[in-house]
Amino acid sequence: MSDSDQLREPIAAASPALWAALSPLGRRVAFPPDIPFQAAQARGKRFNGTIGQVTDGGGRPLALAAIEEALALAPEARDRALLYSPVQGIPEVRAAWRRWQRRGLGDDAPASSLPLVTVGLTHGLAVAADLFGGEGKAIAVPAPYWGNYRQTFAARTGARVLPAPAYRDGAYNPQAVCEALAGEPPGEPAVAIVNLPSNPGGYMPTAGERQALCAALLAEAERRPLVVLCDDAYAGLVYEPGVPARSVFWDLAGRHPGLVPVKIDGGTKEFSFFGGRVGFLTFPFAPGSEVAEALESKVKCLVRSVVGSPVATSQMLLLRALEAADVEEQVAAVRRRLERRCRVLTAALAGVDRALLRPLPFNAGCFALVELAPRLDPEAARRHLLAEHDTGLIAIAPSYLRIAFCSVKADDLPALVANLERGVRELAARG
Ligand SMILES: Cc1ncc(COP(=O)(O)O)c(C=O)c1O
Repeated sequence: MSDSDQLREPIAAASPALWAALSPLGRRVAFPPDIPFQAAQARGKRFNGTIGQVTDGGGRPLALAAIEEALALAPEARDRALLYSPVQGIPEVRAAWRRWQRRGLGDDAPASSLPLVTVGLTHGLAVAADLFGGEGKAIAVPAPYWGNYRQTFAARTGARVLPAPAYRDGAYNPQAVCEALAGEPPGEPAVAIVNLPSNPGGYMPTAGERQALCAALLAEAERRPLVVLCDDAYAGLVYEPGVPARSVFWDLAGRHPGLVPVKIDGGTKEFSFFGGRVGFLTFPFAPGSEVAEALESKVKCLVRSVVGSPVATSQMLLLRALEAADVEEQVAAVRRRLERRCRVLTAALAGVDRALLRPLPFNAGCFALVELAPRLDPEAARRHLLAEHDTGLIAIAPSYLRIAFCSVKADDLPALVANLERGVRELAARG
């Protein structure tokens, strides 16, 4: 039996829906028992001649002083930062991130695996796309959406992205993803992306909307095996006290045999560690369970075949943050700054001329979306704002501009909105 054949039984036994939803590539891959596998088995041996990394012969890196001096870590942590990471990630980082993910959830929280480390969330999404995408596979994505999903799922794997209008009459539509899947043959496995807080929307659903979203996804799982990819890039950045901040992953895990949520998150936005490229992929199964181990083998094969192993240096820096006694307060301090910007932007947009542009609801994350009047082209507006008003925004077809309030000072946001309104009015006057 091949390595991948051996993984079929534990996955299919624990979750037939998950096995049904795997792509041909996802079924095929298994972590091979080659160098990292054999090197891991040799760790701690008196003579370890397995892995091709340069050391002093006792496990410490022969690092260049110039690099070593730049890393303000304790010597042991620095050594680990300079050597290869295990393909699945550094154990302490995985354990600490799992604790971070589960903080405040209580003892009855659903099972979740030890997160597997990826090179940023993009890589985590690409691994998920390899596992569950593939030629012709339906991927429902609330629209407007982060454009890179197109590259990750459609361009790379040939999946069919089904845009699911996320707003109806200017309000969040929790049924969107399921409406987009309505035309797919019953029984056919599908993938849905749930990105909350959203990019580009900057929206986190209210408790009622969240309930409706989960009910719709659970109903969809009655019709087909459904993998829900929870892209939690903006986890925790929620600014309305009454709006639940926890990931939808926790509301879906273990709720229906036909629905498998997968959590994709990381240090990028949650820890303001954009350049660190530490992401995580988490499955709704207990650490050490056979199904978690089988999925880990598949992910490790995909990681090893593309990036070798994830970056050790930034994992060790993230670990230092995760172990800081006041880490929650440090993260909260960034959130409070963004919350203020969100409030200032909300107030500034409240006064704009609705005949020209309509802000969509936003209360979370890093962004706000404005919808332009029907005759106005967002790309033309973007270029006009750049050329005439010293203002850079993102154009999103067919009718939106995205404002990244995360990268503008609160005090500058009213002037940015004034420029936006003026620019759009000028464009409208041109006809
Ligand atoms: C919704 C969403 N998912 C994933 C990512 C990618 O994150 P990373 O930079 O960690 O690859 C982003 C980045 O902007 C994002 O907005």
